[in-house]
Amino acid sequence: MAKKAMETDNLTVKQSYYCLFLSIFVIISFQASFSDAETHYHEFVVCVIQAKPVKRLCRTHNTITVNGLFPGPTLEVRDGDTLVIKAINNARYNITLHWHGIRQMRNPWADGPDRVTQCPIQPGRSYTYRFTIENQEGTLWWHAHSRWLRATVYGALIIYPKLGSPYPFSMPRREIPVLLGEWWDRNPMDVLRLADFTGAAPNVSDAYTINGQPGDLYRCSKQETMRFPVDSGETILLRVINSGMNQELFFAVANHRLTVVAVDAAYTKPFTTSFIMIAPGQTTDVLLTADQTPAHYYMAAHAYNSANVPFDNTTTTAILEYKSAPCNAKKGKSSIPIFPQLPGFNDTNSAIAFTSRLRSPSKVKVPLQIDENLFFTVGLGLINCTNPNSPRCQGPNGTRFAASINNVSFVLPTRNSLMQAYYQGQPGVFTTDFPPVPPVQFDYTGNVSRGLWQPVKATKLYKLKFGAKVQIVYQDTSIISVEDHPMHLHGYHFAVVGSGFGNFNPQTDPAKFNLIDPPYRNTIGNPPGGWVAIRFEADNPGIWMMHCHLDSHLNWGLSMAFLVENGVGKLQSVQPPPLDLPQC
Ligand code: C2O
Repeated sequence: MAKKAMETDNLTVKQSYYCLFLSIFVIISFQASFSDAETHYHEFVVCVIQAKPVKRLCRTHNTITVNGLFPGPTLEVRDGDTLVIKAINNARYNITLHWHGIRQMRNPWADGPDRVTQCPIQPGRSYTYRFTIENQEGTLWWHAHSRWLRATVYGALIIYPKLGSPYPFSMPRREIPVLLGEWWDRNPMDVLRLADFTGAAPNVSDAYTINGQPGDLYRCSKQETMRFPVDSGETILLRVINSGMNQELFFAVANHRLTVVAVDAAYTKPFTTSFIMIAPGQTTDVLLTADQTPAHYYMAAHAYNSANVPFDNTTTTAILEYKSAPCNAKKGKSSIPIFPQLPGFNDTNSAIAFTSRLRSPSKVKVPLQIDENLFFTVGLGLINCTNPNSPRCQGPNGTRFAASINNVSFVLPTRNSLMQAYYQGQPGVFTTDFPPVPPVQFDYTGNVSRGLWQPVKATKLYKLKFGAKVQIVYQDTSIISVEDHPMHLHGYHFAVVGSGFGNFNPQTDPAKFNLIDPPYRNTIGNPPGGWVAIRFEADNPGIWMMHCHLDSHLNWGLSMAFLVENGVGKLQSVQPPPLDLPQC
């Protein structure tokens, strides 16, 4: 009890790198602070969601930001920390915040997806996200999880190891978050609204960005291009995050090899590569040693476009500047940085070759006996219109675009959030009959008959017993187009045990699974026209969304949710909701 009373006594204020970001560490017990095991930190953060003029590509937009920053503030914490983040909504949209990749054990209330685990924070209201980081370290990120607000409301979430625990690689001299984003030369919420009206695909972005800046190759952008100074010989850690909306990206740094050491806040066996492929939702930590001739080098990202659909084919750049680089400008020469080689836009072989090199550092505990064998088709679809000439049916041949998992196109509830309805026992908000296998079997990656293109709209969840060992095979379909769908599971990370092209063969493919050292991730894409298999244990009760992290697909219904039941043990039940949880 005495310990409790002291909780608020010892306040120390830490001014973080971004001055607007208020962070206060509370050391729970002064006496105990000498012993690591007894020291806990609470980090208090205030996020004010507000519109702010942001000028890009020659035009100023009233952009939704956190604390007036675009991208939003970097949140730097340690494994074991408790975060208390007060989100104040001073914008004109309903909004929620999501801590992408945080497991949120027994605490779905802090997860954030709009209408899944909470009702949105209405304009003028606030909600305090409280959660503890349990055994996670590395690079994650946070973003709005309501409509398309995440286009501008996002930032890095960096989890350092517990005090005294080193990285499993030698300490880099510098660490740089590299947030890859997408920018529209208009309000992204209007882009979405138009697409929702017409049923056609939303406009592609006008630029990609690195830490919010498009870079030298775009109009009115050269002055603000991101520059990263380095000393010759030093090794830096780039924490690359794809916070873009709709596009997988290739990323490279001219003349420099990258050593991959972690993905999605899970360490990997280090390997070197000249480029990475990263999908929306994923993070990739790479070491880079500044061992080249002192000069300026571009880092650049452009699309990996796996589908036969329109895409933003522009290139974003930042500059790696050796501090000792000769200043050519003085001699009247312009110092044009050296440009990296990126794989071509549709170079699936390079994309797959990169992803398939990922391994956990050593042998991991993968579920071997599977209780729930799920086979999920993922892909696009079309909704037929009774009046194909309607302005609301501007998809292919007078239809509306849709997307689905096992032919169910997910619809968010309107009356309540799924988690609140579940907890309160409110009926009629969702059903738990999500199909474990496709309702009809067909040649998924072949020539699919038009009769199978139209999904059914519903709010169906799949129930999992606490502790169930789950396998999911995501099978791409060729409906409209094959495509790499980066599938993200909330509340979990999972082992990626296998992948391949064509249709998954349950007789022969499992024999080729890597059950020794598969990589752990929270977001994985299927090869276009192929499949990917994941495994995890359902040890986190609650309702957890699972969806394609391409927001155009998410909006079309490429989503579902798991309802993981409570277990019987003390730490196997969902915590009670916080008192300030927003109501619908
Ligand atoms: Cu990064 Cu459901 O989100």
